[in-house]
Formats: sequence, C-alpha cells, structure tokens
Amino acid sequence: MAKSILITGASGGIGSEIAIQASQKGYKVGLLDLNKEVLEEFESKIPNSVALPTDVTDEKSVAETLKKFGETPSALVNCAGIVRFGSLLEQEIKDFKDVIEVNLLGSFIVGCAVAKLMKEKGEGNIVNISSISGGKHPAIHSGAYAAAKAGLVMLSEQMSLEWGKLGIRVNAVSPGFIDAGMSAPHYRDDSERKKREAMVPMQRIGTANDIAKVVMFLLSDDSSYVHGENILVDGGVMNSVLANIGRS
Ligand SMILES: NC(=O)c1ccc[n+]([C@@H]2O[C@H](COP(=O)([O-])OP(=O)(O)OC[C@H]3O[C@@H](n4cnc5c(N)ncnc54)[C@H](O)[C@@H]3O)[C@@H](O)[C@H]2O)c1
Repeated sequence: MAKSILITGASGGIGSEIAIQASQKGYKVGLLDLNKEVLEEFESKIPNSVALPTDVTDEKSVAETLKKFGETPSALVNCAGIVRFGSLLEQEIKDFKDVIEVNLLGSFIVGCAVAKLMKEKGEGNIVNISSISGGKHPAIHSGAYAAAKAGLVMLSEQMSLEWGKLGIRVNAVSPGFIDAGMSAPHYRDDSERKKREAMVPMQRIGTANDIAKVVMFLLSDDSSYVHGENILVDGGVMNSVLANIGRS
C-alpha cells in the first residue's frame, strides 16, 4: 500500500534528513515548514516530495496544508522547533511564549489535526522530536526550551494513551548533542566541539543521520509494539553525570 508522511520542520537540519530517508523508504513526503524558499529547494531534490509552507502554531495554516496534501498521511513527524537563549530572569515573555508555541503547542495542533484523519482510517504513526533538555537535564540560559521539550515528552505519552486504541502508534525521540540545524554553529568552534565530544561516553557528536535512522525504525514495522516511548539518541550523554566525577 502507498505510504505517505508529513514532516514539520522539514527545511531544518534534522527534518530534511528525515525527509530524505522517508523518500528513500518509498513514502510520498509532505514537507512542512515556515521557510518556503528552502522547502522549494528540497522539493526539487527529494523524490516524491511536496513543499507545503505551514506555520505549525496556526490551526488555519495546518488545516489548509492537510487539504493541499489531499490524503490521510500514514505517518507524521513533529520536528519543527526553535530555541530562544537567555537566562530566565532576562527572558522576554514573548520569547518564552514563542518557544512553547512552536515546540509544544505546534506539535499538539498538527498532531490532533492529523490524528483526526488517521482515526477514520484506523491506523497511523506519529513521532515527536523532543530533546535531552526535556529530560532531567535542562541547559542553563535556554529559556523555555527545556520546559517545552519536557511538555512534549508528556504530550507524546498522553497521545499514546488516548490514541493507541484508534490504531495510532505514538513515540518521541530525544536527540543529544547533534551537529545539525540549530546546533551546527556550536561545532564550528573546534574547542567547543572537543569539549562536548569529551563529555559523551561514545566520544563523538551525533548527526542528523543518527536521529533519522531511529525515526525510521519507529515508523517501521520493526517497532510494531513500541508505543508511548521516548528514545534517547545521545551517545549515552544523559547517563554521564557521575562519570565526570571519576574514581581513582
Ligand atoms: N540540533 C540539535 O542539536 C537538536 C538537539 C535536540 C533536539 N533538537 C530538536 O530537533 C528538531 C529539529 O532541529 P534542527 O536542529 O534541525 O533545527 P533547525 O532550526 O534546523 O530546524 C527547525 C525547523 O523548524 C522550523 N520552524 C520553526 N518555527 C516553525 C513554525 N512555526 N512552523 C513551521 N516550522 C517552523 C524552522 O524554520 C526550521 O526549519 C527541533 O525540534 C529541535 O528542538 C535538535
């Protein structure tokens, strides 16, 4: 049966790699993002893909996109995300709200709009992209990002509880230190890169490919009984706090 997928944040570093791998797996790919120019470039490069400029925080924009796509997608990846750096005491309320709106509310808006269609079909698969910041380790000066991503992990669990019986499988993926998209600028500085590599038990920074492969696993039948999980893809860094103390 023909498979189709919608990917938000598809102009970005991780979203575009997920789109490429989904296309290679035979999906018709709907590319959703605010960045129309980059979307159109990807549409011309990624076979069987369609550029669908969308604001995930705007219900009307999402409804128009679903209409344009013209079919119930077999899968959805909520990958759109933003971060607004700054200490909590200096954070502008607007920046805090924007981060919650794109990362958390946007995933809710797109997730619900798509799940209503999937419900009619009795099947579907959703993956929400969170972050290790949404676990137990918020980064300092990252504004609302950790709170939004923690909310997204919990939202994914709630989706899995409410939508499992509708035939919709829902999971989250939490990337660690990744040399792509919003984090790529950190790794242009060689000393920053080496410092971060040393913190990761696997001693390397992850790639968009590392993330996309796990998303593909969750979308595939190989993970047919995985539901409501949050898979860390971080080279072990979330478990490494005590390793920094060492033992002589
Ligand atoms: N790169 C990392 O190290 C890293 C680590 C952990 C989690 N993540 C998460 O992975 C996801 C992808 O990040 P990335 O590194 O590819 O960043 P990125 O900035 O390259 O991609 C994010 C995309 O989201 C789009 N976007 C922003 N607001 C939108 C809106 N309102 N509607 C539609 N699209 C919108 C942006 O235009 C951009 O193309 C994000 O959710 C991010 O939080 C990234």
